[in-house]
Amino acid sequence: MSNTVDTGKRRFLTAAASVVGGAGVVAVAIPFVSSMLPSAKAQAAGAPVEVDISKLELGQMITVEWRGKPVWVLNRSSESLSILPELTDTLADPNSDDDQQPDYCKNESRSIRDNILVLVGICTHLGCSPTYRPDLAPADLGSDWKGGFFCPCHGSKYDLSGRVYKNMPAPKNLVVPPYHFLGDNRIVIGEDAQGAA
Ligand code: FES
Repeated sequence: MSNTVDTGKRRFLTAAASVVGGAGVVAVAIPFVSSMLPSAKAQAAGAPVEVDISKLELGQMITVEWRGKPVWVLNRSSESLSILPELTDTLADPNSDDDQQPDYCKNESRSIRDNILVLVGICTHLGCSPTYRPDLAPADLGSDWKGGFFCPCHGSKYDLSGRVYKNMPAPKNLVVPPYHFLGDNRIVIGEDAQGAA
């Protein structure tokens, strides 16, 4: 009988010790998180983000976070770029007349360097994140699909410059954020070469 009580007590003490231990971990963790807050705040407020693209392979896309948003950096092949002029008649804003990019990216490739595309990965319809679909004519997107971005929420389609096709739920091209290059392999996202955001 006494054994049973002891066992029960022991179980309780073990459980209590675990909770205290857990609280101890939280108490230790908070100062650490607090010390990170200025940088997190600075990032949320729009501090620029530096990205190393030295290992970005042809056709590869990486996602970084800037102002709490996903920003894509894509290394486009010359084949992908050669398709862009063919799409003009099928796009809603082929010349990027809407104010969706800095002036220095108001061109067919919507970029500073032709091959490197930088886009905010948020659909201009209701804010879902489109998926990168570089594959040509996949079964689910149709035989005329030339590669681009597809929003699974309501079906908006964008080309490999982030230009939206005609008659899509999304009204505008994807946003190109301000950015500039630091040498060959580094991009600063969030400010242009003059330091303007
Ligand atoms: S949010 Fe992308 S199509 Fe609606």
